[in-house]
This record gives sequence, structure tokens and C-alpha cells, in this order.
Amino acid sequence: MLSHSDPSIGHKPRPAEETGLLLREASRRLVEARERFLGFPGNMAFDDSDSGHLLAALANNVGDPDSEDASGVHTKVFEREVVAWFTALAQGDPETTYGYVTSGGSEGITFGLYVGRRRLPHAPVYASSAAHYSVRKAADLLRMPLVTVECGPDGAMDAEALAKLCRAQRHEDEAAGRPPRGAVLLATAGATMGGAFDDVPALREAAGAAGPCYVHTDAALGGIVAPFSTPRPAWCLGDGADSVSVSGHKFLGVPVPCGIVLARRELLPSFPVGEYVGARDHTLACSRSGLAAVLLWKRLRQLGTCGLRALVHRCQDTAEYAVGALAAVGRTPGGTGTRWPSPSTGRRRRCAGAGGCRRRAGAHS
Ligand SMILES: Cc1ncc(COP(=O)(O)O)c(C=O)c1O
Repeated sequence: MLSHSDPSIGHKPRPAEETGLLLREASRRLVEARERFLGFPGNMAFDDSDSGHLLAALANNVGDPDSEDASGVHTKVFEREVVAWFTALAQGDPETTYGYVTSGGSEGITFGLYVGRRRLPHAPVYASSAAHYSVRKAADLLRMPLVTVECGPDGAMDAEALAKLCRAQRHEDEAAGRPPRGAVLLATAGATMGGAFDDVPALREAAGAAGPCYVHTDAALGGIVAPFSTPRPAWCLGDGADSVSVSGHKFLGVPVPCGIVLARRELLPSFPVGEYVGARDHTLACSRSGLAAVLLWKRLRQLGTCGLRALVHRCQDTAEYAVGALAAVGRTPGGTGTRWPSPSTGRRRRCAGAGGCRRRAGAHS
């Protein structure tokens, strides 16, 4: 016998009223948890419940955003706007830049490394010790050797340490009498725990010691922050990256996990058209969330570039205020977060804090 608070799925259909009660309870808990959400980089300032009508029908963006598919049940018109907007933000050329809405920052990293591997099939991935753990997963999945590069005192990848490792790799290649394998560089724009930005042009130059180089920037956290910061970190396509990715549910606070990835179109592998969907498809999946694409579009349209700039500055001011107000606190200049020693387990449980109890000064704070 199922009780009204029992979410288990039985053999028989359950009354809609009972299911509705459970769903409303789930929604009440999520809203309540939002008030004490601390230590994770999600912007909780938004409420998109007015967009619930989008759930009335399936929205499945199969294949490339600029390719029609046979089903027609998609939101690609919005996705194309999202990609165009982010291409401009990342200083990409709209004619030569490809992009799509991903399931999140991790898919963006995987896509970037995948394109890098197609370009340089024998190159290892170089990532800093502060890179997100998804980089390890993606490298493992793609069977790419991963080399960890130490960080400097500011928490960003140390260019000299990278150059040294790349020179050693080049010597190995020469000694083995093979062509240089090159380097796939994974730069981080806004590190998870310290907020540091890797310097793309400096690292690209350092990685050149290994031979040809491909750069992906994981800007899951910093892709919206960097363009509006002073000084502006060098992170994007215009700064020499070949591909970049950002999360949509972090700074932008989209209520479903999502992200955007961009890559130089000329580097994409050539794939056949998806046989039965009729769409060109360079994405990692087949079906993709049309809901995520339209909600991302909604947030960007709602704020506009000016609104986002103001939001970034407000978050930075809040972080600045926190630096002044909290004793023994450390913060990376230009970042939006602050760190302090881990509180007691009980307090952490009450505040749902992550790892080192990192607090992001979001628009909600
Ligand atoms: C720097 C960085 N990269 C990648 C990710 C993974 O992004 P997602 O959770 O959107 O897959 C995170 C998550 O916090 C991150 O901080």
C-alpha cells in the first residue's frame, strides 16, 4: 500500500491528485533548500515558474542548431540566438564558429577535448591541478593521457611549468625519431575552488614547445564573468582558444542543467547526416534538450548584455564587501567567490556547503 508521501512507482497508475501532491511537496522543498543554498556556484535569484507552459510538449533539438530535422519538434530558432550571442561574447567569428547548447560544462569539456583529439590524435591533455574533475573523466573516456601542470601562487596554471613539460615531451619525440605529438591544452577560466583564470595566450605560447597546439577553455564558471571584468582575463576565441564552453545553470541560473560550447568550425570532424533524423549532427548526443535552449535564451533576453554586465559587477562588489567584512578570507581578484575555513559538520549540513565551504556571492546574496 502506497502512502501519500511514498514516491515509489507501483504496478498500477496512481491517482493524479496524489502524484500532484507529491510534486508540489518536491517543489516546496526545492524552494526552501534554495534559501539555504551555500557553497555551490548556482545563481538562485531567478524563478522561471512562469515558463511552465513549455512543458506542454516535447522539445528535442536533434543535431546541429543550424540544421533542420525531420521531426520539427524543436526550439532551434532560440538555440541559434543563444549560440550567436555567446559567439560574440567569446569574440568568435560568426561565419567560422560552430556551437550548440550542451547538457552542462562537463559535456562542453568533453566536446572540446574530442575536437582537440581529432586535430592532434597523439597529443596528451595538459590541465592545471586546479582544473575541474570532469577533465579527468573526459580524458579517460577519450583515452587521452592527462598531464597535470602545477599552479602559480594565484591559482592559475604556471606557464613556465607548462613550457618545461612540453619541452621534455618534444625531446622524447625527437629521441624516439617521431613527429612532435603536440599538446591539447585545457585552460580553466574561473577555477572551481579558487576562481583563478588561466592566461590563454601565455599558455598557448608555452605549449608551443611541444609542437602544434589545440586549446580548449573550460569557462563553466567564468565565461560570463570574464568579459565584463577589469582587467579582462584572456580566456576566449579572440584570445587564441580553439573552443570554449560555459555552464548555463551557474552564473546564469537557468533552472535546468545546461551549457554552451563553441569551436572553430574548420576543426570539426566530418560526420554523415543522421540517417533517420535528417539533420547534420556534430554534437555528442543525438537528442538534446530543447527546453534548456529556450530557457537559456529567455535568461539572456531577459537580462540583455547590459543587464549581465551589471549583474557581474554587483556580484564582484558583493565579493569585495565579503573580503572586507570577513576576517582571514582570501579571494582571487576579479572572481566572484570567497573562501574561509570549513565550518563544523552540523553547520555544513544546515547550509548544504561544498568542499572547502566556498561561498559564491551571487545575485541572491
Ligand atoms: C570550472 C568548472 N568546470 C566544469 C564544471 C562542470 O560543469 P557542469 O556541472 O555544468 O557539468 C564545473 C562545475 O562546477 C566547474 O566549476
